[in-house]
Amino acid sequence: MSRDARDVDTQVSIAQTDIVVACRPGQSILDAAYEQGIALPYACRRGICGLCAAELVQGEVRPVDALPMTNARCDAGQVLLCRCTPACDTITLRPSSWKRLVAPRRLPPL
Ligand code: FES
Repeated sequence: MSRDARDVDTQVSIAQTDIVVACRPGQSILDAAYEQGIALPYACRRGICGLCAAELVQGEVRPVDALPMTNARCDAGQVLLCRCTPACDTITLRPSSWKRLVAPRRLPPL
């Protein structure tokens, strides 16, 4: 079912781990990960630095706003996790790295 036809959280998995985070409709996957205690690489959160690029192994995403979901630093099949939100029920990603936080935290507003 298309994400636009529903209004529920999407389960976002990190490939080859037991990590699954819930992402709210319209929320960036990067923000969702931090809120649930998973740190992923990032710097700008504006689609510029490319540090948040991750391979989209399974599923579909859409932009969180008017900015693009990829940039010149993305390899084929990668998306910027700061710029995309799920567009289907389940997603699997392969980020360049990840770690568990001591406590979940909310990233500051842009
Ligand atoms: S954090 Fe810089 S492009 Fe996503």
